[in-house]
Amino acid sequence: MGTGSTLFAILIVGLGVFSYVKIKPIFDVPEKPDLGEPWWKVSKPTKVDTSIRPFKIQVSNEILKDLKDRLDRALPFQKSLEGVKQHYGMNDKLLTSIIDFWKTKYNWTQREKILNQYPQFKTNIQGLDIHYIHVKPAQTQGIKVLPLLMVHGWPGSVREFYEIIPILTTPKKGQNFVFELIIPSLPGYGFSEAAEVPGLNTHQMAVIFKNLMTRLGFEKFYVQGGDWGGIIVSSLAVFFPEKIIGMHSNMCFVNTPLSNIKLALGSYYPSLIIEEEHQHLVYPRMEKIGNLFLETGYLHIQATKPDTVGVALRDSPVGLAAYILEKFTTWTNPDWKDLEDGGLTKKYKMENLLDNIMIYWVTRSITTSQRLYAESFSKATMSLQIDSIPTDVPSACAAFKHDLTLIPPSLLKEKYTNLLQSNILDGGHFAAFEVPQVLATDVFEFVTKVENLSQKPKSSPTN
Ligand SMILES: *[C@@H]1O[C@H](CO)[C@@H](O)[C@H](O)[C@H]1NC(C)=O
Repeated sequence: MGTGSTLFAILIVGLGVFSYVKIKPIFDVPEKPDLGEPWWKVSKPTKVDTSIRPFKIQVSNEILKDLKDRLDRALPFQKSLEGVKQHYGMNDKLLTSIIDFWKTKYNWTQREKILNQYPQFKTNIQGLDIHYIHVKPAQTQGIKVLPLLMVHGWPGSVREFYEIIPILTTPKKGQNFVFELIIPSLPGYGFSEAAEVPGLNTHQMAVIFKNLMTRLGFEKFYVQGGDWGGIIVSSLAVFFPEKIIGMHSNMCFVNTPLSNIKLALGSYYPSLIIEEEHQHLVYPRMEKIGNLFLETGYLHIQATKPDTVGVALRDSPVGLAAYILEKFTTWTNPDWKDLEDGGLTKKYKMENLLDNIMIYWVTRSITTSQRLYAESFSKATMSLQIDSIPTDVPSACAAFKHDLTLIPPSLLKEKYTNLLQSNILDGGHFAAFEVPQVLATDVFEFVTKVENLSQKPKSSPTN
């Protein structure tokens, strides 16, 4: 070998070692951090209250009178530009019809009764009063009762689950189990207390809900969630795998370097990533990313300065309704941007949508709800790279076709290594609220698989 080729060989080997040292850590699985059990209030009492207290929603006349005054003062709205539908944000015609309904048809006395139809409780976890719905099945003879924790997201609330509750708690013919549901309000959302000190991100919410389930006597349980709820149940599976029998999410999220490389490669060879029938849900990539940008301006604001926009939304019920219900149009179906009425009442009843708005308004919790973005996208949280830590808990990822972003099932196994089910279903971002039957069927299908697995240990003969 001449000097030239020796030098060349050394250079190549050197480059190889350098690249390995530099690139390999990107693919390494980060270590699971110790989340601890922080106290979320400024001061800590000497004696911690662990009681479970029944709770009912009871809004004072003062709050209702104040709301009525604010709604009466709100008109006139800024007129929208000619022909823009929902493309500049919520159209004034749609907003007018919503506020009109709120003022003249929405009957709080009646809605409060509906909201109080399921047993609700509060209990203090790590300093915060956590509100939750707890529904036991009425009839359980001869069948198993499986605990299921259901977790909502933003800008939702426990209200999203009201229609799915009876489906999941009613025994079905030929099915040997039924669910007992525990449905908490996220800390800082609705009737759950908000943190007084920084740091309460999705992973810390997982700690709180694990502790809630332990308080209620559930050592092992199933979990289901969408939006932030999907991220929280995923965190529960990562940090407390011994407690989670199965995880069902309608917003599975995979953000490993390898999955992103594969997703980009799929732009050239989509058939490597996803079957032809569903390719249009993921590609062309630039178009999908463009739409994601269009729908996530709010996220940038809430991840950086949640409190400033919160001031306005906390002060104005009309602003709050416009800000939240805009999400219920385009996140349910992106094409509804092109509709004069935003499509809202195609899939939802206005009174149900307003129940959710009322939960934010009467508790004045919009600002504290938005802080979850700042806490979860903070440098401290992001540097932990928890997204890249896989879980082997039996999992199901339900992808709804109109959701903001769809992770191809072929990439999900990088994070959910024991993925038993990954159906692509009809519906949008708020699946529980929009298509409760579709979501419930997917949950039943998944849990049947997990229950059958646990009944057939590998060593025993099967037939
Ligand atoms: C509101 O609902 C309550 C309870 O269902 C009913 O008694 C009352 O008459 C209703 N009010 C109006 C204005 O319709």
